[in-house]
Amino acid sequence: MYVPLARKYRPKRFSEVVGQEVAVRVLRNAVKQHKLSNAYLFAGPRGTGKTTLARLLAKAVNCLRPQEGEPCGECENCLAVDRGSFPDLVEIDAASNRGIDDVRAIRDAVSYSPIKGKYKLYILDEAHMLTKEAFNALLKTLEEPPPRVLFVLCTTEYERIMPTILSRCQRLLFSKLKDSQIVQHLKNICQKEGIECEERALYLIARLSDGGMRDALSLLDQTSTYGEGRLNTDTVEEFLGILSQEKVRDFLKLLLNSQVDKAIAYLNEINQKGYNLSRFCELLEEEVMDLILYRSLQEPERVVRVEDFHRSMQSVPLSALLYLEKVLNAVRAEARSRDFLRAFELAVVKTQIIKDIVPIGELLKGLSPSPSAKEEAETTKKTDPIELLEGRLDTFTLEVLRRARHEKREDKFLFYIKEGELTQEEINRIKTLEPRIDFVVEAKAEQEGLPAFAEKLKDMFGAKVISHEQRGKGKGPPDKGS
Ligand SMILES: Nc1ncnc2c1ncn2[C@@H]1O[C@H](COP(=O)(O)OP(=O)(O)OP(=O)(O)O)[C@@H](O)[C@H]1O
Ligand SMILES: [Mg+2]
Ligand SMILES: [Zn+2]
Repeated sequence: MYVPLARKYRPKRFSEVVGQEVAVRVLRNAVKQHKLSNAYLFAGPRGTGKTTLARLLAKAVNCLRPQEGEPCGECENCLAVDRGSFPDLVEIDAASNRGIDDVRAIRDAVSYSPIKGKYKLYILDEAHMLTKEAFNALLKTLEEPPPRVLFVLCTTEYERIMPTILSRCQRLLFSKLKDSQIVQHLKNICQKEGIECEERALYLIARLSDGGMRDALSLLDQTSTYGEGRLNTDTVEEFLGILSQEKVRDFLKLLLNSQVDKAIAYLNEINQKGYNLSRFCELLEEEVMDLILYRSLQEPERVVRVEDFHRSMQSVPLSALLYLEKVLNAVRAEARSRDFLRAFELAVVKTQIIKDIVPIGELLKGLSPSPSAKEEAETTKKTDPIELLEGRLDTFTLEVLRRARHEKREDKFLFYIKEGELTQEEINRIKTLEPRIDFVVEAKAEQEGLPAFAEKLKDMFGAKVISHEQRGKGKGPPDKGS
């Protein structure tokens, strides 16, 4: 008969428990130092080791040859607990025995001494399901417990346990397991089972299990069977109809870049292939939340597994991420009134405006030039006034200015030109174009100088110059068209 991995690999010793360091240490020391509490409350998420540790406690306190608080795993009591046939270990599902009569029955049974072991141990699973009356009846027992009786109350809903009960129990909080802890555990099991696995696939399983080892193991069970002993991301994705983190992140980038067409095409493609869009949307939202936390927290490492991906998204404005989160969050509500694909598509369309979301700082920068840009412009002005007029004057005039000697006087540029090199209109026009430019017109000693200069220009600019040459001789304003 096939034994599911979760059962086959249920830790048999404290040292085999993954995580839950505090609980393990408290229990092991209590056993070692004979300082057991009469009642414990194990609270924490599903499949994180509560029942496992309760059974380990039963084993450790009844083991015939315990070592440093660890059960030996070989004596008859240890073997009986492992087999589930130890008479002094009673597991009660509070969900189906939640009434006062059930608790009274426990209370009566409790008064008998242990049959085989030193301690009789009651595990009350789903303790939050007990009725109020049952809780009250239980209180009495917890208050004055018969000697050699231990209670372990397990719950996934700590808040629902009455304060009067809480105060009579030693409370141990169980936490979700980290992805890396789950992956390591799965890796060891794959090795023992001869399952060929890709680490990325294990991470995918871990992520989907949301910190629960039982879920992780049952996913490993199913996917490795599906993959016939081989496990890679494709097998996992295919089996579960979900997409890898990598693909989710690629899609996220499409949204942040407002690549709506591509994103919608991709959605339709995966929908057609039968992938679970709702799960995809959830994974996407998780990624966005991680990015938001990464961007907003001082020490994001405490809550987010920071990867290169997060660092590479450093420049995405926080406002864009918050907007995206809101849009994705609305998909589920939208999907109530329409088909999920349509709701998702609508969200994608809404991301179109993300490219317009510019952080306010950038916006201000756009309104007035940044100091450095201003400075830069300033220096150009200082060193090269002609640059300022480029494109605004005709080539001839510019060339005259280029050849003219100029100097800086306070914040003005003084150009020395020869009489007749530029007409008065031209001078005025330049001055209105660039008020910082002024002219000193030097009287011309040799009239012949000018034709020679004009000749040179004629060589340089060809026919165009002719009109300038004429103009140079005082024939009115330039005619732009010529
Ligand atoms: N911390 C852990 N270390 C190793 N394996 C674990 C751990 N937690 C859970 N498992 C695996 O998951 C299986 C189920 O765990 P367990 O029954 O202890 O969970 P639980 O916390 O009691 O969950 P629930 O709240 O659903 O009752 C175990 O058989 C074991 O294989
Ligand atoms: Mg349990
Ligand atoms: Zn033993």
